[in-house]
Amino acid sequence: MIYIHLDGHKYNYDVLELIKLFFFNEDIQFLYNKTLVSNQGLLIESILYKENDKLNAAAKIFKAQSCISSITINDIDSIDIKENNLNKKKKIAVKKTIFRALSTVTDIKVPWGILTGIRPTKIVHELYDKGYDRNTVFYVLTNEYLLNSEKANLIIKITDRERKFLYSLDENRFSLYIGIPFCPTRCLYCSFPANSLEKWGNFVEEYTDKLIYEIEKVSRFLINKKLNTVYIGGGTPTAIPVKNLNKIIKKLYKVFNVDEFLELTVEAGRPDTINKDMLYMLKENKVHRLSINPQTMNEKTLSIIGRKHNPKDIIKAFDMAKNIGFNSINMDLIIGLPEESNKDVIRTMEEIMKLEPDNLTIHTMAVKRASKLKETIEYYSLAEQKSIEEMLNTTKKYAEKMGLEPYYMYRQKQILGNFENVGYSKEGKECVYNMAIMEEKETIIALGAGGVSKFFYPTENRLERVPNVKNLINYIDRIDEMIKRKVKFLKTC
Ligand SMILES: C[S@@+](CC[C@H](N)C(=O)[O-])C[C@H]1O[C@@H](n2cnc3c(N)ncnc32)[C@H](O)[C@@H]1O
Ligand code: SF4
Repeated sequence: MIYIHLDGHKYNYDVLELIKLFFFNEDIQFLYNKTLVSNQGLLIESILYKENDKLNAAAKIFKAQSCISSITINDIDSIDIKENNLNKKKKIAVKKTIFRALSTVTDIKVPWGILTGIRPTKIVHELYDKGYDRNTVFYVLTNEYLLNSEKANLIIKITDRERKFLYSLDENRFSLYIGIPFCPTRCLYCSFPANSLEKWGNFVEEYTDKLIYEIEKVSRFLINKKLNTVYIGGGTPTAIPVKNLNKIIKKLYKVFNVDEFLELTVEAGRPDTINKDMLYMLKENKVHRLSINPQTMNEKTLSIIGRKHNPKDIIKAFDMAKNIGFNSINMDLIIGLPEESNKDVIRTMEEIMKLEPDNLTIHTMAVKRASKLKETIEYYSLAEQKSIEEMLNTTKKYAEKMGLEPYYMYRQKQILGNFENVGYSKEGKECVYNMAIMEEKETIIALGAGGVSKFFYPTENRLERVPNVKNLINYIDRIDEMIKRKVKFLKTC
């Protein structure tokens, strides 16, 4: 058990998120009275206090009532984040002292330093926006946010690549996300809106109608805006019949000004949903990008994670798509799948290299609360941090060999080993939607069950999130409410 006692501040959430990085599977509890503790495990004390008119932060770690580590930052105003924001500096000081104190008593490496958020690249964009150069950004990331130099360089590189696609900001530009919440079966690790067709297949027709209704109604408020990119995801959009997906895409062409849009991606995802009819329909509808996702090329793992396809199906689906003329194909992989080691990853990467995809997205396994994996975790062996690092390095080396460079990234809660997800692409084959959704510098209208619209107001640097319900039946029943939720923002965006 890990106990936390805070004094002089209330950064409970931030402190908890940080401590979870060091103690992945431990119970963590806040203590409001420090004296309650006697020989009960580890106690982490974090204090913010004033001395000689200066604000200081301290963290102490106690074990069996002895202090085993103690770190202090005197005068937190000296924290150099290139921003005069005392509240932010207080939070950073609290996190830095805890981070340093814990680093002296545990072996766990925390490559992302004190950053616990999903989008570390945002800090780099903000510093660039203020006119700071790469060296200063590197200094702030490594000295104040305590990133290791490899991660600091990674996000600087990605931000450099993203900026030419995201800037200049334009309040009249938007992207569109269309959610199709059906899949052939539900994968072990998944927490996305993914209703198995076996159980929910008889709702596909009604869902298609309601989605088309939502597209039609919402599009009326977007007539004078410029549609930048479209991403049809889920779930697995290609899991529904060809005629339904065709109807949805045709509707998009009908109601939006498509002459100008840059990119239309369809998450084909599961190879067992890809066939010639589907691919020809997507090609005829001028879909630019496809995702065909192996996750792994190891047959045994595919069976463990509940994907009803084998590595040969992936190769077949990929070759079929290439032959039909798709020249921008992404492949998703997950590192840290149950029972996998570096040997399996090498085998997967050797197979992927033969296919030469244009994009490769390397996810690190996250044990999501709403997944079957979380419920049954005791039955699986998951890799330790060192092994995850080795496997990620393998993917990085192969990506380089394949001429793929990192172009977007994000982190997730409960991600194994405190690592990250990185999207690699050939030059000119970046998915602009992926960058836009991560950096939140453009309005994204998300339609369908589970979609979260984000209205971005560049002049105020403000973002408003408007979610649709995730549940399929609720979405169908409450479609008018889903539209209404957005109307207020659609009128002002
Ligand atoms: C929205 S999912 C849908 C993709 C598609 N349905 C498929 O499974 O091929 C996008 C990607 O997220 C990744 N993913 C999903 N759940 C994950 C988890 N718990 N941890 C890490 N990556 C995950 C997988 O690589 C997946 O391809
Ligand atoms: S990972 Fe993809 S195919 Fe598997 S359940 Fe989730 S959305 Fe469906």
